[in-house]
Amino acid sequence: MQKQNYEMVSELYKKYVMKTCKPNLVLVKGRGTYVWDIQGRRYLDFGSGISVCNLGHCNPAVSAAIKEQVDQLVHTSNLYMNLNQPRLAQALSDHGFDGVAFFCNSGAEANEGMIKFARKWGHDQGKFEIITMEDSFHGRTLATLAATGRAKYRKGFEPDMPGFVSVPFNDLDAIKQKITEKTVAVLLEPIQGEGGILPADKEYLRQLRALCDEKGILLLFDEVQCGMGRTGKFYAYQNYGIEPDAVSLAKAMANGYPMGAFIVQRKHGDVLQVGSHNSTFGGTPLASAAALAVIEYMDSKKILNNCRKQGKYIMDKLGEMKSKYGFIKDVRGFGLMIGIVLDRPASEFLPKLEEKGLIALSAGETVLRLLPPLTVSKTEIDKAMAIMTEVFDTV
Ligand SMILES: Cc1ncc(COP(=O)(O)O)c(C=O)c1O
Repeated sequence: MQKQNYEMVSELYKKYVMKTCKPNLVLVKGRGTYVWDIQGRRYLDFGSGISVCNLGHCNPAVSAAIKEQVDQLVHTSNLYMNLNQPRLAQALSDHGFDGVAFFCNSGAEANEGMIKFARKWGHDQGKFEIITMEDSFHGRTLATLAATGRAKYRKGFEPDMPGFVSVPFNDLDAIKQKITEKTVAVLLEPIQGEGGILPADKEYLRQLRALCDEKGILLLFDEVQCGMGRTGKFYAYQNYGIEPDAVSLAKAMANGYPMGAFIVQRKHGDVLQVGSHNSTFGGTPLASAAALAVIEYMDSKKILNNCRKQGKYIMDKLGEMKSKYGFIKDVRGFGLMIGIVLDRPASEFLPKLEEKGLIALSAGETVLRLLPPLTVSKTEIDKAMAIMTEVFDTV
């Protein structure tokens, strides 16, 4: 194969790849918390591919499971059973509420399916409207865009798909005011990701659960970003002592192999029937093998303990930075889902951090977002904090 350099790769991008993103680095290798670019520079990856490679890049256990399965059976379609899909569904149930799972390939597809589940559930009573949150993000398909509470993502794609109303996050009264006889569900991220790492208040979610029960409507959680252990619990809702009627997952499910799912409480398990929903690639033997390896690794290596421990360590360090730097207004999050709220655009810092070898993310305009792998070590955190200090000192 011809040896490629940075210029050749970016030329190919320019000419042949749709410009829906603005990538700058060419990354060629990943191991654990580190990635390498085409020039051989090493970076600490505190973005994990936006909360996807939660067990580190090329996690050996996940890679081994993929390699083994790839030579056995890759795809069959859901016209046939495979060995891995039901075991994965059982594991997702065992780690949260008792329920049944539907498998797909992305976060948007998981939410799309969960929205269809809610509409089907309410159909015969004439209920279809879903209350969603301002600043939420649920995906880029037409239904999930309509559910997304940030107008900038919908701009240019109007008219919005009908059936969604948006209210401010963490405001129970606003939800009460919007509930009508047409309301079928309330959909939210327990911790808003793209919106700025904004956790739901504990009391708000508890009262919302009671409100949904009282009004006979469904409570749907989008845990595409905050699920799979990111907050220190397997499901983010487990931080709140309540359960939703359905929850969606994707991103970190198979540590980088594309996979999504939504899981509904067992009592709702018959709402979607044969022929009402499907996805060609949903829950293939290969994707399910990767996801099973993820869960087995999380359990056997007690990854959630590390997530909570290192999350606290980072939060303590960032607390010190907050008292030192006036431009840090707040530090918030759960586990290793962390937002540093700034008085200026986070984009001012990202290239400078990257130049010094740290990949971080933004969320909203002014939040610097850290999503290191849940396997991150104290030494790696110390290195990342040293880079941040160096960059913050220049302000
Ligand atoms: C909370 C949430 N839901 C849904 C999505 C969409 O996921 P995907 O890009 O896999 O379709 C995202 C992606 O960032 C997300 O953060």
